[in-house]
Amino acid sequence: MKKLLAGIMIMTTISLADGYTQGDRILDMQKMAQAMQDIQSGLLYNNIDIIKAGTKVLKDTVTNVRPIDAEMNNKDIYEKWLNNNLKMTHKIQKKIRNKAQTLEERFADGDAVQALQDYSKIMGQCMKCHVRLRKW
Ligand code: HEC
Repeated sequence: MKKLLAGIMIMTTISLADGYTQGDRILDMQKMAQAMQDIQSGLLYNNIDIIKAGTKVLKDTVTNVRPIDAEMNNKDIYEKWLNNNLKMTHKIQKKIRNKAQTLEERFADGDAVQALQDYSKIMGQCMKCHVRLRKW
């Protein structure tokens, strides 16, 4: 019984450790791009429900984003670079989640102009990672 439990625990650890592939990340990116489009529609059509649906997907999805397994498993100098990027990623994720929350609240309060500014700040965070990490 103990052995079985240990086995299950090891397997769980392994399956948690791996599993974020480039394909997963691209899907997450596409989900976030769609969420941003939804939020934009919500702003233009003055629809808080569309905005809320978009910010929810955005907040949930951005939490997943991280270096993929192939990157994590690559050692040497890459590791240092990766640690810096992990820090940057966590900061950006936090900012995107916070801004999404503020956007929603401001729009609900009738301040569409400020909400639009939050929208553009979110987009700025997306681009920050793309420029720095992806080198676009
Ligand atoms: C922490 C870094 C990071 C953040 C933050 C980030 N991206 Fe990305 N994005 C990437 C990387 C890396 C790729 C390349 C995906 C790959 O090939 O693994 C990418 C690719 C994309 C793509 C192209 C996907 C495809 O089909 O090829 C879109 C669209 C995209 N991101 C949208 C967004 C949006 C919208 C946001 C903000 C809400 C965002 N990204 C935030 C790192 C990031």
